[in-house]
Order: sequence, then structure tokens, then C-alpha cells
Amino acid sequence: LQTELLTAIAAADTLDALETVRIAALGKAGSVSALLKTLGGMTPEQRQAEGPRINGLRETVSAGIAERKRGLDAAALDARLATERLDMTLPAPEAPRGSVHPVSQVLDELSEIFADMGFAVATGPEIEDDWHNFTALNIPETHPARAMHDTFYFPDEVDGKKMLLRTHTSPVQIRTMTSQSPPIRIIAPGRVYRSDSDATHTPMFHQIEGLVIDRGIHLGHLKWTLETFLKAFFERDDVVLRLRPSYFPFTEPSVEVDVGYSIEKGKRVIGGSEGWMEVLGSGMVHRRVIESCGLDPDEWQGFAFGTGIDRLAMLKYGMDDLRPFFDGDLRWLKHYGFSA
Ligand code: PHE
Repeated sequence: LQTELLTAIAAADTLDALETVRIAALGKAGSVSALLKTLGGMTPEQRQAEGPRINGLRETVSAGIAERKRGLDAAALDARLATERLDMTLPAPEAPRGSVHPVSQVLDELSEIFADMGFAVATGPEIEDDWHNFTALNIPETHPARAMHDTFYFPDEVDGKKMLLRTHTSPVQIRTMTSQSPPIRIIAPGRVYRSDSDATHTPMFHQIEGLVIDRGIHLGHLKWTLETFLKAFFERDDVVLRLRPSYFPFTEPSVEVDVGYSIEKGKRVIGGSEGWMEVLGSGMVHRRVIESCGLDPDEWQGFAFGTGIDRLAMLKYGMDDLRPFFDGDLRWLKHYGFSA
């Protein structure tokens, strides 16, 4: 019987066939089970002789079945692996891709334009102290400009300093002049904060600051720099600037810069001079600011300018509402975003 069963086990070429053999041998009505049952009717002597043989048979058969099962399982796995093999040469399915945010795009454009003119990129902290954001920029405690800035203040002082979210990128002028020696040519892009909100104002927005400090710098250098930058940015030669006298505590004289636009197909486009739009604030760095940074204003002069990156993006790419810039709506990002 043992030989017969082992042959049947070896011949079982599927798990189902093996199960049939197992039931026929070890199942309730199986041949081996039947032999085991005969032990009950034997005399002790017979049982002593037959018991080990019958139990041995049962063990040999179960072991044989278990081994055959392992073999069949392994073969089934091999077969599956063979048919389910990964084809690494197949093209992968298209994954959803993000886009470059207009603010990042414009920032890249600006950095490139100014890099070509020899400007390095400088940064400063968004959590500023009130000396860098105001005092050193010739905006003393009592100055009305402090109220105009709608500043977010922190409730606690740090090392005796009043802390705030910077209201403009101009504190980076101070940080640069106190940490580097002139000549200085930097742009400083970054987030700024004001408690203000409507279609064209969000509590957080982006500015870019420019600062040049050297010997003999004058308003003509400022005008050339802004003209060169705005022509490159708007990619038009007919960009016209209008410089208007203005006031900022940290520049003297101060100059507000308008850029001319025309109406093309019912839409405002930059270029020409049918109308004017204010694009930036600028001026010659105030001697008091140069002094606050420990430099001699008789030796070093310079100009500074500041403008909104988001605003430049809106003018160049035609958005009329600032708020969706920061909503994270994928439909907006898909529409206005740029491919990397
Ligand atoms: N900091 C000014 C603002 O936020 C802009 C500015 C920068 C003006 C540099 C003059 C010089 O409005």
C-alpha cells in the first residue's frame, strides 16, 4: 500500500489531484485511516507488531504529501512569476504633474535679468525686529509711516526687541549694508506681510528689493537700471517709464515709477503710453540710512527700489485678482502655471 500511495503522490501533478490522493489515504474513509482503525480490534501482541508499521505508513504518507505540496506550490509560483514578469521596457503611465507657480516663474525671470546686470540675490528673515524694518530705514517710532504699514506685531519682545512680520523687503537693505562692504549690488525677493485684504491685496504677498551702493551713484543709474529691467521683463522695446517725485522715509529724493500701457483688443498691455500704471517705488538711499549702517554717506551713495512680484506677474500674465494666487486651486494653477 505504501508504494502504491507514494506513486500516486508522485503522480499528482496539481494541488487538486494531490488533495484527492490525501483524502483517499488519510481522509475519514481513507485506506490508511481504515488500517489505523483495525488496531482497535487487535490483541495487544498484534498491536505491538502492527502499530508501528501502520503509524509509520501514516507518517511516511503525510510527509510525502507535504513534500509534494511544497514542490507543487513552488512550481505554481515559478509559473506565475514567469507569466507576470515586469517588462521594464514598457513606457510608464503618465503621472500627474505640477506646474511652476507664476510667482516662482516671475522670480526666476527677475533673478535672471538682474544676474545679467551683475546683481546678487540677498535674503533676510520674515520675522524682523522693528529696528531693521523701520528705525534703521529712517522711520522712527513716532513716524506716521508705521501706522500706514498695517504691521503684524508679535505680542512678546525678543531680547528687548519688538518683533514683527516684515512689511516690506527694505530691511534687507539694512542687513546687507551691515554685513557686506560696498560696492553692493543686490536684489532681495521674498514674502512680506500687511494686515490688508481685497482683490489686489492679500495679508502675505511678495516683493523684490534692489539696492546699489557704490561711489558716485546718481539718479541716472537708477533710471537706466529700471528701464533696462522693465524692458527685459515685459519683453518689449516700447516700454516707457514715467518718473514722479514721491516720498519714502528711506530715500531722498524718492521716485515713483509708472509704466505706460496701451489698449490692444480691449485689453491693457504694457508698452506705449495711452495710460500709466504705477509699478514701483524707488529713490536715492537716504544718507541717514547709510549712516545707520555704519557707512560714510559722503563716500558711499546708492539707489534702492522695491516692487511687488505678484503685481508684476498680474501685469505680465493678465490675472486681475490676487487672491487665487494663494488659494492652491489646481484649476487656477493649471491655467496660469508654467511647465518646469
Ligand atoms: N519699501 C517700499 C514699499 O514697500 C518700496 C521702496 C523700496 C521704495 C525701496 C523706495 C526704495 O512700498
